[in-house]
Amino acid sequence: MCGIIGCVGRGDETLDTLVHGLSKLEYRGYDSAGVALANSHIDLCKHSGKIADLREALSERTLSGSVGIGHTRWSTHGPPTDENAHPHQDCTGDVAVVHNGIIENYQSLRDELVSAGHTFTSDTDTEVVPHLIEDALEAGADAEDAVRETVDRLEGSYAVAVVVAGCDSVFAARNDSPLVLGIDDDATYLASDVPAFRDFTDKVVYLADGEFARLNGAGWTVTDTDGNVIEKDIDTVQWDPEETGKSGYDHFMLKEIHEQPRALRQCLRGRVDELAGTVDIGDLGDLSPTGVQFVACGTSYHAALHGAQLFREAGIPSQAFLASEYATATPPIGDALVVGVTQSGETADTLSALRAARRRGARTLAVTNVVGSTAARECDHALYIRAGPEIGVAATKTFASQLAALNLLALGTSTTGDARQVISALRDLPGHVQEVLDESAAQEVAELYQDANAYFFIGRGYQEPVALEGALKMKEITYKHAEGFAAGELKHGPLALVTENTPVFAIVTGDDERARKTIGNVKEVEARDAPVVAITDGQSDVERYADHVLQIPETHPRAAAVLANTHLQLVSYHTAALLGRNIDKPRNLAKSVTVE
Ligand code: AGP
Repeated sequence: MCGIIGCVGRGDETLDTLVHGLSKLEYRGYDSAGVALANSHIDLCKHSGKIADLREALSERTLSGSVGIGHTRWSTHGPPTDENAHPHQDCTGDVAVVHNGIIENYQSLRDELVSAGHTFTSDTDTEVVPHLIEDALEAGADAEDAVRETVDRLEGSYAVAVVVAGCDSVFAARNDSPLVLGIDDDATYLASDVPAFRDFTDKVVYLADGEFARLNGAGWTVTDTDGNVIEKDIDTVQWDPEETGKSGYDHFMLKEIHEQPRALRQCLRGRVDELAGTVDIGDLGDLSPTGVQFVACGTSYHAALHGAQLFREAGIPSQAFLASEYATATPPIGDALVVGVTQSGETADTLSALRAARRRGARTLAVTNVVGSTAARECDHALYIRAGPEIGVAATKTFASQLAALNLLALGTSTTGDARQVISALRDLPGHVQEVLDESAAQEVAELYQDANAYFFIGRGYQEPVALEGALKMKEITYKHAEGFAAGELKHGPLALVTENTPVFAIVTGDDERARKTIGNVKEVEARDAPVVAITDGQSDVERYADHVLQIPETHPRAAAVLANTHLQLVSYHTAALLGRNIDKPRNLAKSVTVE
């Protein structure tokens, strides 16, 4: 949801460093991109489209300066045009600003500035910022005070970075949008996310809401709103720069699908003792929840649905809420533990739900992939899924790791009868996922049905969230209509959509009552001539009613969810590839959604 970068200390390489950083942040938005370098004036270049379009525009320009900022945009205010691309400038052209978030009071600020004679050239909320800074400079403030005074007037969510002509510094401030500093011996960086500068340094400082940073040749300082210096910890990032490359795969999504065995091993490492049949999640084991409410969005919500089932099965009342609905749903909270499931730890809807829960006195836990993320810092507790960086906009390996981590959470905080079986299934899971990756017939299925009118996905119990996730992945990267249903719901309406041109993917594991009932639903769609793709461990006789089978190893139904999902990820991936879609950057989407 927009990526911003800034750097000082890279000398002649400043421009290349900014553009390189933007290419690493492009997953956050790809509607337009731009850079600004400060010297005695501001050199600026911006363009609608992707970083490649910006690079082309830059090839015809000369920009100089060793202090700079850059931006890649996911549009909120105004369409993705050159005019709306960041950085934005004031009337004099001496101030340039990049921004991630939404300035809620921008209209009143804009009205005020227009009445005072300022000319606006974009539709964005961001443009009020350089004009306010211009006013403050004209009133006699120095650059730092001008930026501070301006930030004080902003309401809403923002991470902003600013350069001013004739000033050797980059200024930055945040509220509800992520910002992290990268610290090297001779250079300092700031960005929305670590991959932007990870090729140069592994030392990072996470900014908190209300903090203000100044980067210049002398180094960096972080201050509070009154200008008092804050001593910040310097953390070391635990992953390698290569992890943010494609490693020979055509797309990040495919690479990340194939990284699932490793991601799962990392998630489980040191946390399960198969011999003892126990799970060790440290202090989290003492949480002893009497009720659990999950809040999450998108793929993470599907993981949350799985999590809620785990706790219900352990006899602990539990429910998953769409984070965007949670604050207004105001469910009775009692002494429930509220768990935010969020890969990025920055999703605005999820953060907002967690804050609402905290205000109501709940204990909160973030299940997240990103150390130092806002969710991790704001919640009382954090459980890291340890999947490593995920660049593809479509969440893949992080979903698998979320399911594994939620199983650890349920096992570590409650007692279930079949803990040993689950632990054993979790131990086998990385190897089982590898088997699916090695043998999946997903590509053939994709080839057969790439022209389908729509795709439907059905499952029960632990396989229902997988059905929902299978459909989300399919629509997200193929732009085709896809819906997931609890298998029993199909006959209550959606069956009317089923034709010979709508393949139905049925996830049937085990041979229990759920499996038998789902097979009944399979027969219903088969009778309407729909092609059926069964994802099954072969325990039931669903194969008799299916046109195609995607086989998974026999395991516990909780682990089967990860295996079935792996096939469905591959079906979506190959369908999107056959259709020539922009798989890693699907239209209209961004990896991290930092606005509500
Ligand atoms: C799914 O492929 C998407 N990337 C999206 O649904 C995502 O899961 C959602 O935006 C939540 O993101 P989070 O896990 O970072 O909070």
